[in-house]
Amino acid sequence: MTRQISSTLLRSGMRLGRTLYDEHGRVLLSGGIEIREGFIKKIQKDFAVVYIDDETSEGIEIKEAVPIELRLQTQAVLEKQWNLWSQNTSLNKVSIDRDVVTDLRNHMKQLLSILQGTTILQEDLATVASYDNMTYVHSMNVAIYALILGVSMGLPEGMLIDLGLGAMLHDIGKIWVPIEIINKPGKLTNEEYELIKTHAELGHEALVNQHELSYLVAHCAFQHHERLNGSGYPRGLIGDEIHLFGKILAVVDVYDAMVMHRPYRRGMLPADVMEFLYSRVEKEYDLNLVALFGKKVSMFPIGTEVKLSDGRTALVKESNPNFPGRPIVRIIQNEQGEAVTPMDINLIDQLHITIVNAGGNSITDYFID
Ligand SMILES: [Fe+2]
Repeated sequence: MTRQISSTLLRSGMRLGRTLYDEHGRVLLSGGIEIREGFIKKIQKDFAVVYIDDETSEGIEIKEAVPIELRLQTQAVLEKQWNLWSQNTSLNKVSIDRDVVTDLRNHMKQLLSILQGTTILQEDLATVASYDNMTYVHSMNVAIYALILGVSMGLPEGMLIDLGLGAMLHDIGKIWVPIEIINKPGKLTNEEYELIKTHAELGHEALVNQHELSYLVAHCAFQHHERLNGSGYPRGLIGDEIHLFGKILAVVDVYDAMVMHRPYRRGMLPADVMEFLYSRVEKEYDLNLVALFGKKVSMFPIGTEVKLSDGRTALVKESNPNFPGRPIVRIIQNEQGEAVTPMDINLIDQLHITIVNAGGNSITDYFID
């Protein structure tokens, strides 16, 4: 009974389809409540996209792949370490909190057991973030995506735990980059970009001497911006000079950055981001990893609005596991944009119709650090 809408379309009287959490994981507004005028500005300030329940979305169920409690607890552990290190300006003196490592390891084990039983990730991870905790949410999402890829490659459990830890900590070097630059909306100047780029090396430096962690975890921070053709940073490594974990993180980090909603732009739909990644395989991203990842995440998350090739607007109702580009959709508007009596069609049976416009943003709106 739920669909996604841009928060700019919220009106009083609408019913919230999913609970909204603040940056510390506390409930802001519970799912099911009626939106009052006074809430709208606050929601719009913190969230780009929200779920609502209404008649049009009757029978559309959002699937939660990873329990929200596990996400919030894991993000809170990362936040704890982030805050501890933020007070310490001297990089060579930092040491990671032993409890943080134990907690993160345990959370990664729980996450693994969930993802090992997941054939395809149906949940739209892009919608759960509030703008204020985006760094932690992004790290969590990257861990979920990296692990789902690692699991489907059949990596052994010890490696998967290291991959999950490396994913959680991959951007931790940003602690030592000025916060105004990290949070700057839109395009950065060349000097600012050069400063942002230092986070890969700084993260490596902070993590490499931690005896609690494998050197592979530090290498996730070091290599997640390397690209196959040598165009990445910090070292411009080429091809197999990049560790498998670096190649995995390159794919899933960019994927999450592009699907994630930001204060100044809506995220792109997974199908569009996969197009983008495919356009750069072998040059920047590993073809096999991109292809495998495309099979593990839902191309059109349930509850999203899409435009069809015949001009009509529809909501994604259910995905067809073997045909990720052809879900079951519910027509809600005709070619003229007028509301119609909702009608479900299965795009597998209607091969002349395709989804033509999903996200609505052009690739040039995106800048990935
Ligand atoms: Fe990064």
